[in-house]
Amino acid sequence: MNLAVIGSGGREHAICYKLKQSPKIKNLICIPGNAGTQKIAINIDEDISNFEAIYKIIKKYNIDLVVVGPEKPLVDGIVDFLNKKKIRVFGPDKFASQLEGSKAFMKNLCKKNNIPTANFGIFDNFNDASAFIEINESPIVVKADGLAAGKGVTICNSKMEALNSTKEILNGKFKSSSKVILEEFMKGDELSYFIIVDKNSYQFFGSAQDHKRVGENDTGPNTGGMGAYSPAKLFNRDLEKKINHKIIEPTIDAMKKLGHPFQGFLYAGLMIRDDEPYLIEYNIRMGDPECQVLMMRLETDLLEIIDSATKNKLHNLKIEWSKKNSITIVLCAKGYP
Ligand code: AMP
Ligand code: GLY
Repeated sequence: MNLAVIGSGGREHAICYKLKQSPKIKNLICIPGNAGTQKIAINIDEDISNFEAIYKIIKKYNIDLVVVGPEKPLVDGIVDFLNKKKIRVFGPDKFASQLEGSKAFMKNLCKKNNIPTANFGIFDNFNDASAFIEINESPIVVKADGLAAGKGVTICNSKMEALNSTKEILNGKFKSSSKVILEEFMKGDELSYFIIVDKNSYQFFGSAQDHKRVGENDTGPNTGGMGAYSPAKLFNRDLEKKINHKIIEPTIDAMKKLGHPFQGFLYAGLMIRDDEPYLIEYNIRMGDPECQVLMMRLETDLLEIIDSATKNKLHNLKIEWSKKNSITIVLCAKGYP
């Protein structure tokens, strides 16, 4: 098979690395790729927001299956676009991508389906938002509704800080967000939990923990992740059952009822408090750097897994993981993020 991977991160390098090990792979291209993918795939430099240009590349290279790495093209509807052109693509459609693309969508879905998450309010005007801030205890977590490249969440230790962050978002700090979500601050331990989903079933796809602060000893600004390890130390089978029963299955069922069954990688950002899981956020893709540590532990052919998922036959597969641990450390340019 000829595969195209879209994206330019460590995540896409890890996906290409694993796909390349498949005996079924013929040609592998990465759009636009990076120095790592250059060694194992053909990099094609193109703006990944230009779907027509991507379609032309896919036709030119006779691509059988497209794997989309990052959230932005998914949220912008690349799956709907390629499906219309009869191209097989692995990832959620534009509607289902709202699980990550709109925090208001995700929180409302939780509320309707009794999925445990932090108490919240959604506001599009400052007066109502400030009334919520006045009656709730600090810290308050202030979130932009739409994608914000990891910069849309502020944990505010005072009411004044929460009011300022709220004002910035409502004044248009993020083009993607006209709404603000205010949340109760949850104490606990964080866990990243991954599944792969098709229209008939889903399977566990690993656990990991990333470390977000840029500096030594967890200091400095948040990044997309300066390192990760897998499996996460908190993770165990009892917790997995609770996560699936209370969070994953109600979400998958709700998306089906909405007429947009989820298909793709689903990454749940969880807070674990007193052995109970709470959903902080959904990502509709693999994490980066989490994907790097997970691909090192995956023992089943990734091409076969993704091929099965796009044919809704995941239930026929047994996905195997190494029991060994893996870890990655990110080196970054001065000034990052
Ligand atoms: P998000 O982009 O929603 O994952 O938020 C980024 C980070 O903010 C999370 O990984 C958590 O560390 C933290 N966070 C978000 N929401 C909450 C919350 N309600 N309580 C405590 N921490 C939170
Ligand atoms: N490492 C966090 C993320 O990929 O969203």
